Amino acid sequence: MDSKEKQLTFRLAFAVTVAALGSLLFGFNIGVMNAPEQIIKDFFNETWMGRSGVEIEKATLLTLWSFTVAIFTVGGMVGSLSVGLFVNRFGRRNPMCLNNLLAVLGGAFMAMSKDASSYETLILGRFVIGLYCGLATGFVPMYLGEISPTNLRGAVGTIHQLAIVFGILISQVLGLNFIFGSENRWPILLGLAIIPAVVQALALPFCPKSPRFLLINQTKEKEAKDVLKQLRGVEDVGTEMLEMKEEHRRMTQEPKVSILQLFRHPNYRQAIIISIVLQLSQQLSGINAVFYYSTGIFSKAGVDQAEYATIGAGVVNAAFTIVSLFLVERLGRRLLHLVGLGGMAVCTVIMTLSLHFMTKAPAVSYLAIIAFFGFVAFFEIGPGPIPWFIVAELFSQGPRPAAVAVAGCSNWTSNFLVAMLFPFAQELMGPFVFLIFTVLLIFFTIFTYFRVPETKGRTFDDIASEFRVKAGMKPEAAENIQLNTDSSV
Ligand SMILES: *[C@@H]1O[C@H](CO)[C@@H](O)[C@H](O)[C@H]1NC(C)=O
Repeated sequence: MDSKEKQLTFRLAFAVTVAALGSLLFGFNIGVMNAPEQIIKDFFNETWMGRSGVEIEKATLLTLWSFTVAIFTVGGMVGSLSVGLFVNRFGRRNPMCLNNLLAVLGGAFMAMSKDASSYETLILGRFVIGLYCGLATGFVPMYLGEISPTNLRGAVGTIHQLAIVFGILISQVLGLNFIFGSENRWPILLGLAIIPAVVQALALPFCPKSPRFLLINQTKEKEAKDVLKQLRGVEDVGTEMLEMKEEHRRMTQEPKVSILQLFRHPNYRQAIIISIVLQLSQQLSGINAVFYYSTGIFSKAGVDQAEYATIGAGVVNAAFTIVSLFLVERLGRRLLHLVGLGGMAVCTVIMTLSLHFMTKAPAVSYLAIIAFFGFVAFFEIGPGPIPWFIVAELFSQGPRPAAVAVAGCSNWTSNFLVAMLFPFAQELMGPFVFLIFTVLLIFFTIFTYFRVPETKGRTFDDIASEFRVKAGMKPEAAENIQLNTDSSV
């Protein structure tokens, strides 16, 4: 009997855990530069002095530092745009396995930079590890989705997000001064990236290939069936094989849509604009200013033990990621996104005021930290998870790959802008820098209120037809256009 409710078998749990090491490593590298900021800046200064004999200028140091943090996102962008090159030809598991070479290389460059007295090596390492992360954020969710039975797909998919936030948290804890965040040990901290990469590379060959790739891309029916039997722990996998074939059939019926067509075609334009703005709302909310630079922000403001505030943020981040999992199917995407953005806006105002008045009354620094935790909590309630999966929900099978690529690219681009520009803005504006995010957050709240539809519990058809009407056409006329594109591609 092929029962409907599939179990979590050991094979599946093993494969999920191994794959999620990639997400963990992604989170780790988001958070890892935060705590050792001052120590690494000192290393830049020293290296500069050793080479030229003069102290580094403040502005040069700031540029070099933010470039080192931000180049990671450039690697991420290039990596995420290259995912398609690998998955269609080589599958999911093997590219994921080979990708670890990049992680080892990146980790090694970063770890060697101090001994080599070369910040160029550190920057190169950050770029290479960024490439790894961009690729991993494509491979991992795809692999997880394809090896899971339908009834567990949602739960398994969230493992990716959870592993990311735990990766951030681990990097913050290990970055503490008395662990690896010291003048001599920071290269070890950055080099730690190598460990999960090696473990994953060694364990992946023992994980199954994606049955969907085997069946759909390679038409190896017997192999796909064997893999499924192992993963599900049952002999009869006929129903699921049929499901996959049916899914494939439906997929081939819908024409592929190019990126250009997404913007040209009135049926898609509205949805792609919403997808882009939602990605911008995630990054320009300022969240990564916090994850890249919070220790610096707080120690500059005079908060004692700023690293612990950063770790607190990591804990709040992880906790609210879990909270959001429970809320998102109940309260819907639109409401959570609105509440999240609005809450973040309020927190930025409180944070600004308390950081400003702290010099007069040091106790106010607690208020700053609470507002800072609130900021992170509201982020994970809405703007963190929602932009990612709403993109998939706004588009059907045909235009989805192009839409996901556009969304990923906007996400990494805005991530880069924040990482690169925030330290300069902070230098210019001091604590008032967060007011930039207040303004942006208010804009995104208003946009979400007027433009973003609720997608919870609706079919793709239903959502798509709403956009057709909004594009100012009668539904029948839109229907004709839809048919036209179908036949023209
Ligand atoms: C660079 O190091 C020197 C000597 O340790 C120090 O006096 C100076 O303030 C540092 N410069 C910057 C921009 O941190």
